[in-house]
Amino acid sequence: MPIIETAVRARGVEATIYTLRNAGGLEAEILTYGGTLRALRAPGRDGQMADIVLGFDDLEGYLGPHPYLGSLIGRYANRIRAGRFSLGGATYTLAVNNGPNHLHGGPGGFHRVLWEAQPLDAPDGPSLTLAYSSPDGEEGYPGRLSVVVSYTLTDRNDLRIDYEARADRETVVNLTNHAYFNLAGEGTIHGHELQLAASRFLPIDETSIPLGELRSVVGTPFDFRRPALIGPRLEADDPQIRLAQGFDHCYVIDKTPGELAFAARVVEPESGRTLEVYTTQPGVQLYTGNFLTAEGTIVGKGGRAYPQYGALCLETQHFPDSPNQPQFPSTVLRPGEHYRQTTVYRLGVR
Ligand code: GLA
Repeated sequence: MPIIETAVRARGVEATIYTLRNAGGLEAEILTYGGTLRALRAPGRDGQMADIVLGFDDLEGYLGPHPYLGSLIGRYANRIRAGRFSLGGATYTLAVNNGPNHLHGGPGGFHRVLWEAQPLDAPDGPSLTLAYSSPDGEEGYPGRLSVVVSYTLTDRNDLRIDYEARADRETVVNLTNHAYFNLAGEGTIHGHELQLAASRFLPIDETSIPLGELRSVVGTPFDFRRPALIGPRLEADDPQIRLAQGFDHCYVIDKTPGELAFAARVVEPESGRTLEVYTTQPGVQLYTGNFLTAEGTIVGKGGRAYPQYGALCLETQHFPDSPNQPQFPSTVLRPGEHYRQTTVYRLGVR
């Protein structure tokens, strides 16, 4: 299947959009700026196609302020308390860009860099490999970090993302993709059904930093071990949901460390579209687009304004603030070690 290349430019930035298409008619668009998943078109039960991720029509949209729509996130996905951590006897200071904390690698994180791209017609489907070498000290992080991320659209209707990184000094790393999914292709996710393979989640403080406790979901609105509609849960009278105005919490996936395992399943009953998430990561941040309208209206593809709860993110990752919480699985990467993470988004119909 051919991979189509489209050159785009705005404000002096020259980037490329690669369109990957598989045998099943699935289509993914990846923009080299931010390593962004710009579009994902999938058929519904009756074959009707819809773009199921939020984004912008033009490069211009991605250059302006936006909440990481489809972006690659690094060096550290999610929050680091007070933008500060210690490693090997030194203390590192990062940008504070989310209340009192550091979020998603800082203002010049991986969502803001131009990735070098290499398309490949691989045996399991069209693929795009993105590379970026982050210099020592960039956004305050120690060591040079060489990152390679591949998007592959397989013929079994998986969008697989493989991440790799190596460092020349001891550092911390936590990579993810920040796609906002709406399987209806419009409206809100109130009618989406969600299942999560997680018996515990990480409760947060008022600045969204995990308290350190791995809390059982039993008897709480956080229990998605069996499929449940998201809408009513957003209304639940629960102090943790009130703190975040919805879900914005990391779940502890029930799995063996390192293995690629089932994490989540989303079903949109009307179109019949389904999304399953598999990952090697210990956690998945469920974010329900609570703040989509908080900092002004986001006018996305087709000139549509995105509403609050207009999408959900399933950010597969290590736990937030791990560099400051030694009881969490380590996010330290040393020279000679090889960071790897794989996440599979499997599209289907029901
Ligand atoms: C993450 C965070 C949210 C929010 C979004 C982007 O998912 O956990 O609190 O910052 O990114 O708006």
